[in-house]
Amino acid sequence: MPDVSTPMDAQSLLRSVPLFSGLSKSQIRTMATTAKERSYRDNDLIVRQGEKGIGFYLILDGRARVEKAGQKLSELGPGQFFGEMALLDEQPRTADVKAQGPVKCLVLSPWEFWAAVGNEPEVLRTLLKETVRRMRSSSGALSD
Ligand code: CMP
Repeated sequence: MPDVSTPMDAQSLLRSVPLFSGLSKSQIRTMATTAKERSYRDNDLIVRQGEKGIGFYLILDGRARVEKAGQKLSELGPGQFFGEMALLDEQPRTADVKAQGPVKCLVLSPWEFWAAVGNEPEVLRTLLKETVRRMRSSSGALSD
């Protein structure tokens, strides 16, 4: 089981994440106090394809590899997020996400996530844009 603790530097990290750049200090503070920091070891499976997933993950430190049926789709690093797809459509996880070396994430439950950004059109727009980009790259579809 991964460690679970309260993030010490979550506020400064959240402030530096482009996705959340439009949020106020108090919104960031609220998010930082509700989110949980989790640590993973090399090769830990952070989320598993096909599992019913809850939680939105923001990488604080380290790198994570996104894989589908053993094939690498992407590698994500500090300030990048994953887990947004199952959060958006409430369906099973679309891919495995594996720690590449030690990884620290900030994890928001769906209700924490929606309470924090549900009324923030810019955040939702950025999130959707990135989600669509990922879906296109996963399916190999071409954009016009
Ligand atoms: P979710 O389906 O909840 O869980 C697996 C996650 O992997 C998914 O959300 C995305 O965050 C991420 N993911 C899926 N496909 C890609 C991709 N092509 N590029 C980057 N990340 C991806």
